[in-house]
Amino acid sequence: MRQRRRIPRLIGSLLLLAVAAAAGGEASAAGKPARKAAPAPGPAAGAAAEPEVRPLGRIIPVPASVTPEGEPYTLTRTTRIGVDQKSREVGRYLAGLLRPSTGFPLPVVDERAAQSGIRLRVSPGETALGAEGYRLRSEPGGITLTAREPAGLFRGVQTLRQQLPAAVERRTVQPGPWKIAGGTVTDTPRYAYRGAMLDVSRHFFTVDEVKRYIDQLALYKINTLHLHLTDDQGWRIAVDSWPRLTTYGGSTEVGGGPGGYYTKEEYQEIVRYAASRHQEVIPEIDMPGHTNAALASYAELNCDGVAPPLYTGIKVGFSSLCVPKPVTYDFVDDVIREIAALTPGRYLHIGGDEAHSTSHADYVAFMERVQPVVAKYGKTVVGWHQLTGATPAEGALVQYWGLDRTPAAEKERVAAAARNGTGLILSPADRVYLDMKYTKDTPLGLAWAGYVEVRRSYDWDPATYLPGAPAAAVRGVEAPLWTETLETPAHLDVMAFPRLPGVAELGWSPAASHDWETYKVRLAEQAPRFDALGIGYHRSPQVPWPTGGSGE
Ligand code: ACM
Repeated sequence: MRQRRRIPRLIGSLLLLAVAAAAGGEASAAGKPARKAAPAPGPAAGAAAEPEVRPLGRIIPVPASVTPEGEPYTLTRTTRIGVDQKSREVGRYLAGLLRPSTGFPLPVVDERAAQSGIRLRVSPGETALGAEGYRLRSEPGGITLTAREPAGLFRGVQTLRQQLPAAVERRTVQPGPWKIAGGTVTDTPRYAYRGAMLDVSRHFFTVDEVKRYIDQLALYKINTLHLHLTDDQGWRIAVDSWPRLTTYGGSTEVGGGPGGYYTKEEYQEIVRYAASRHQEVIPEIDMPGHTNAALASYAELNCDGVAPPLYTGIKVGFSSLCVPKPVTYDFVDDVIREIAALTPGRYLHIGGDEAHSTSHADYVAFMERVQPVVAKYGKTVVGWHQLTGATPAEGALVQYWGLDRTPAAEKERVAAAARNGTGLILSPADRVYLDMKYTKDTPLGLAWAGYVEVRRSYDWDPATYLPGAPAAAVRGVEAPLWTETLETPAHLDVMAFPRLPGVAELGWSPAASHDWETYKVRLAEQAPRFDALGIGYHRSPQVPWPTGGSGE
């Protein structure tokens, strides 16, 4: 029986290899088995197989300016990566990306020793490139990547990476060739804030799982990771002065699983890892609602002095800190002080959403008292847009998560705050909530904001989205990923991909480049990259995927 089974499998593998070879070496060419059987070969239904040289700029997010010119650069066994002192770390990161699949040594050397290789330069005089812009010049004699800051080089490295064949993402040696089209890309972001949020409260995700998400975000030039660290179902970050928050409040999750939490060391490891990908972490402590895990951990935080049980369901709006009690502010001060001390970034998110069990007067009083605490510990407030129901602190950002059907008065309240100087992060739930089902048939996710197919998540303009809000108030976009129904990295993958790259493009690329028809083709071309990275994505019928990918 076993013998007999092996023969057709072997033939199948050979067939797969032949198909892979015909498709330009993607997938199984180096003997790595495909994760799922490829469909029978037939006429391509979608995008063509990968070309040997990807046209310059056919990447996500699409660059601001692309000038194809001349012959490609070819990466070889003798290529060196030339760095200066400020670019050494990005150089090492680049080498780490390229070595496993190319099998080349790619030494990171002093720039002068790398005349014909890949040169990474930090050039403070390049003021037009700003904090994250870069210029990538590719010619047969070498690649030069220039930026004003290391962060710009890091973004440019993602461009260089996407110009190479998708097989570059594999962790075993692939055949190549490794060519980068000739010409110049000059690129700067549309928005300074390009975020993604991960809810680690409803289901807990380990440090390694968060790092994997950080790496996925990096590929699309996202620069902010918002971690939703606390909610009714779990408190996920150690606070030394209130230890039961984690030992008890972190001990479960939606569905009754074991939950978990980050020690301070673990949390700092996430922050450091994000920084190495030039991402700022924004911790969120959601208050005064969404606090059952804290209320369950400490009876004195409850107005009636009685701790409720831990909660593992998915209802919202039933919990509130006790606004009149003095101990509430001892608690808030301790938590914000300790979280701020773990945060090299500028922002601390205080939630403020769905406080349905807090009276309006209490909500306003709470926010009046708590926002100055954030400032006292050197951080800037971010809140969900309900914060505009109180008075956002000077310099605060609010995160708008409304829908098309959100009442006009609520939209206008947020727009008025924006006209008054409050910065906006746009996360419209019926556009960029990555946990919304794509269609009624999507097995995971929720649908309270409606179904959000790939085109819908991409096809809107942040600058004009909220009526009455000045375009200049929009600091950027963020794609939240709530995890009531998501338990594993594979679940995160299939909801985030392929919508996340579209949100990244909304945040980075110039408004004038926005075009679904060309975007969907570039998105389809990401499929072999998703496969190579082990990202199981949703094969939306709106996208002309190449045949033969694995996907969902
Ligand atoms: C939210 O979705 N409650 C911010």
